[in-house]
Parts: sequence; structure tokens; C-alpha cells
Amino acid sequence: MTSKLETLKISRNDVKNIIDIKDIIDAVESAFKQFGDKKVQMPPKAYLYFNQYNGDYRTMPGYLEDEDIAGCKLVNSHPENKEHPTVMAVLILVDTETGYPYCIMDATELTAYRTGAAGGVAAKYLSRENSETIGLVGAGVQAITQLKAVNTVRNLKNVKIYDIKPKAIENLKKQIQNLNLNIKTCKTAKEAVTNTDIVITTTPVKQPIVKAEWISPGTHINAIGADAEGKQELETKLLKQSKVVVDDYKPAVHGGEVNVPITNNEYNKKEIHSDIGKIVNKTNPGRTNKEEITIFDSTGLAVQDIASGWKIYQKAKQKNIGQTIKLI
Ligand SMILES: NC(=O)c1ccc[n+]([C@@H]2O[C@H](COP(=O)([O-])OP(=O)(O)OC[C@H]3O[C@@H](n4cnc5c(N)ncnc54)[C@H](O)[C@@H]3O)[C@@H](O)[C@H]2O)c1
Repeated sequence: MTSKLETLKISRNDVKNIIDIKDIIDAVESAFKQFGDKKVQMPPKAYLYFNQYNGDYRTMPGYLEDEDIAGCKLVNSHPENKEHPTVMAVLILVDTETGYPYCIMDATELTAYRTGAAGGVAAKYLSRENSETIGLVGAGVQAITQLKAVNTVRNLKNVKIYDIKPKAIENLKKQIQNLNLNIKTCKTAKEAVTNTDIVITTTPVKQPIVKAEWISPGTHINAIGADAEGKQELETKLLKQSKVVVDDYKPAVHGGEVNVPITNNEYNKKEIHSDIGKIVNKTNPGRTNKEEITIFDSTGLAVQDIASGWKIYQKAKQKNIGQTIKLI
């Protein structure tokens, strides 16, 4: 730990220089297991809604008790941002003995990586091992790290990409050149998800854009975009015919992929198969056959941020990266 009277400031560039998707997948898998083992404290996210700007702001506190690491992430979602990223975050890690903030870091990159890593962990436990083709609906920031993470746990060969903005597709294509995948640009969401082993949805939509009839048996879907009330990417019929795994029940019911169908009485919380923690700690089974459709409904958990941020903090200290400041 840094001296108890010093805070390490880690900028977005610092994080970019040291972050590694494999490290973050390990951190998130461990966080999910500890969550499944009930060894974490994680009060619900608190939301502020800036409706006139189509934006929101959240606080996400978390404590991994065995590792004795704790902190809080502050993060927004503003889908219409042009000058700034649509999702920006700051993470504060605190000394649990005194409450002193020993690290403050930009968590914008971290958010994308830990969200990607959650998708990677879900794909590891829920997708078919022989999955080769992935379809992306939405080609923004989260899509890149989802792809990187799933490519780490599965031997992908092909990626199909759809976004309403052609520019977003071109940008994504540039960033994934080094992954050695056959890249196909799609004109519709249907084209991106049909005959696909793994589907990733990362859009902020409030009306479903993926239909049940387009999805082949055996597909695994990471539904990432719905993380606040009113958002939904997948047709309710698809949820009803699939094995749905949430990251955590409460936030999923509040703002995850299942939130709108539950509010409309078209889907029952009891239809959810498990949370991811109980899949990772083997209390509940993951995929049990090659025909079932599995869906990971991710809202993003604070313990993902704390575990991933801790890895970054350790690495920054090892490599002498960041700036020591006297904050308080
Ligand atoms: N589950 C989580 O843990 C988690 C974490 C971070 C962000 N999110 C959510 O994921 C979503 C995407 O975040 P991001 O950072 O990638 O945003 P982004 O703005 O970088 O990317 C979103 C992309 O979706 C595209 N899009 C919008 N409507 C579409 C449609 N109808 N069809 C196809 N593409 C469409 C946009 O053009 C854009 O390229 C947001 O809703 C955000 O709140 C979830």
C-alpha cells in the first residue's frame, strides 16, 4: 500500500498503458466467485437521472472482504455525448482500516475492460467450447473489449459487425485488426446474429433490436447494453426461451435486460436461471447441452471494478506509474 497519507493518482493514459484483458478477466472471475460465496458487500447502485440530457450518474461501492479491498466507482451514461466518451468513470480505492483514499484513478478504460471481462467470463462458462463466430450488435467502446475478452476464452475465427453508424463499424474494424479474425460488416442486426455462435449486444436502445427467430439453437448471448431502467435489446420471447443468467438479481430486475419485461408482467424473476457467481463457484450448472440458448444479462457490478482497479493499482505501483499526491 502507498503511505497511509498519500494517494496515487492514475490517469486514463496510465491505465491504458498497463491494462491487460487477461489480468482483468482473472480479477472479474475471482470477484464473481467471491460474490457467489457471499464474501462481498455491495449495496445497490444509487442513480441520478439527468433526463433533459438523456444521461445518468451512478455511485457503485463495493468491498471484497477476504482480500480486504474496498472502494467506490462514480460513473455516467450519456449516449448523446460527442466531445466526451458516453461512459466515463472515476474509481477511488480506500484503506479499510482508516477510510483514507490511497488511490484515485480514471476508470473509463477500466469500465470497458471489466465489462468486457464479465462477458469473457460468461462466455467461458456459458458458450459452446467450439464457438468460432461472434456477432456484434453495437460497435462502440464496450464492443471492443467484449470481443477482446471473448477472443481470449474461445478460439474465434469470424466476427460480424452491425451498428446504425457506419463510422462506428469502421472505427471498430481499425481497432481489431491485430486479432486475426475474418471481419464481416453487416447491414442489419439480423445479418449479424444469424448463424452465429456468440452474440454481443452493446447498444443503449429502449426498444428490442434482436428477434428470437433470428437466433440459432446453441447460441450464447452477452446482453450488455441494458444497465438502467427502460433499456431492452432482446425481444422478450428470446428471454423466455433461453437460460438467463444475471450478474446480480436486484440490479438486473431494476435495470438489466429483464427489467422491462418484468415491469410489463411478461417475464417473471423466477424464470432467471442463476446469478453468474453461483455458476462460477459451481453451485448451479452453466450450459448443459449444445442446443440451449444462454443469455448473460450484465448490468455491471461494483466488485468487478474494485477487483480490476486493485490489479491496476498494484501494477502501477510495481512499474512506478502514476503521481503521488497529498489529497487530504
Ligand atoms: N453492462 C455493463 O456493465 C455496462 C457497462 C458499460 C456500459 N454499458 C451500457 O452499454 C451501452 C453501450 O455503451 P458503450 O460505452 O459501448 O457506448 P457507445 O456509445 O460507445 O456505443 C454504443 C453503440 O451502439 C450503437 N447503436 C445505437 N443504437 C443502435 C441500434 N439501434 N442498432 C445498432 N447499433 C446501435 C451506437 O451507434 C454506438 O456505436 C450503454 O447502454 C451503456 O450504458 C453497460
